Amino acid sequence: MIIAPSVLTADLSDLASDCQEALDSGLNWLHLDVMDGNFVPNLTFGPPVIRSLRNALGPEAIFDAHLMIENAEESFQQYIDAGCNHLSIHVEAVKHLHRAVTAIRQGGATVGVVLNPGTPVEAALEVLEELDLVLVMSVNPGFGGQSFISSVEHKIRALSKAIDAQVAAGGRPVQIQVDGGVKSHNIAMLREWGVSNCVVGSGLFNDKATVAENLAIIHEALQ
Ligand code: DX5
Ligand code: ZN
Repeated sequence: MIIAPSVLTADLSDLASDCQEALDSGLNWLHLDVMDGNFVPNLTFGPPVIRSLRNALGPEAIFDAHLMIENAEESFQQYIDAGCNHLSIHVEAVKHLHRAVTAIRQGGATVGVVLNPGTPVEAALEVLEELDLVLVMSVNPGFGGQSFISSVEHKIRALSKAIDAQVAAGGRPVQIQVDGGVKSHNIAMLREWGVSNCVVGSGLFNDKATVAENLAIIHEALQ
């Protein structure tokens, strides 16, 4: 199970230090929640901040950008050029999903599509053979610290089945990532559903314990 720490609940005034703390705890993915104040009712950061973070942290960390922005097909290259390794785009926010997905790969990043809680799984299945990852939102995007929406189970199980069939037919393996409300109490259940990559924000970055201490509790839950 990959744990991708979401920086949304980190100290954004000291982002590089909090990210370094996550890397020092043994994690190598960083989930960067990019919000445009339009697709979602919140605003975070964009390519200049990501470039600074890349310069501060060096080349090793996997920058996983979750683009909660309208018209991602017009601006995705800026995120790759700023140092992102992986881009996930919302199916609800692009006009031509297949074109956007193939353009991102050609632009030099791995690619995922994101399904909001109210979006049917079929949207991802249509482009599954082009993807590295499907991100299933288990909260409505925009804010950290929300409660997990458990009705996403059927969507994850359907994806898992479709990915197994794709791999059995010689196709590309696709990670299932879940984002929103993932904590030590539900992460083992997610693995059982077929999830291989969990975004964890407030479960890692909080004022109760250090990232390493919180991560140890998550690892214990996965034993
Ligand atoms: C929500 C973001 C998530 C979120 C995760 O829009 O995509 O990455 O910040 O935070 P927690 O784990 O606190 O739900
Ligand atoms: Zn996210």
